[in-house]
Amino acid sequence: MRQILYVSISTVPGDKADLVGILEQSRHNNAIDGVTGLLWSDGRHFMQVIEGPEVSIKETFARIHVDTRHHQLEVLHDRPIENREFGGWSMAHRRATDPVDAYDAQMRRLLSRASPFVSRHFFDLMNTGAADR
Ligand SMILES: Cc1cc2nc3c(=O)[nH]c(=O)nc-3n(C[C@H](O)[C@H](O)[C@H](O)COP(=O)(O)O)c2cc1C
Repeated sequence: MRQILYVSISTVPGDKADLVGILEQSRHNNAIDGVTGLLWSDGRHFMQVIEGPEVSIKETFARIHVDTRHHQLEVLHDRPIENREFGGWSMAHRRATDPVDAYDAQMRRLLSRASPFVSRHFFDLMNTGAADR
């Protein structure tokens, strides 16, 4: 199995970033392809980890890479894994009105089995996003 972690910047103006459209496509495709992971967005940045069979990750990442809803995609790691770190595929989005504590708790739960490398990147970006709000 293979795991990719990347960050990118939304090209869709405003707070929306077509999260509903992305969520629907991803839920559908990832369930079929055996892809698990986590997509995080604050409306401006994306951070996503995808993991699963080599072929599924290659094809999924190729589609994600050319998607014009984001740009400046930077791969933080791309590595073989023995076991999945995420039980399913989920998406987390913090709206400005969401209480910080509940959101933090949710992220901690979603990242509970993630490697230190992966969870550190998510928490770093989350904290940066919160700081310049
Ligand atoms: C930030 C971001 C994350 C995405 N994540 C996934 C994903 O995990 N799985 C997926 O199939 N498509 C994902 N997509 C959508 C793909 O880029 C592409 O639009 C979609 O897979 C096409 O699916 P369709 O041919 O079923 O319409 C993502 C797009 C963006 C912008």
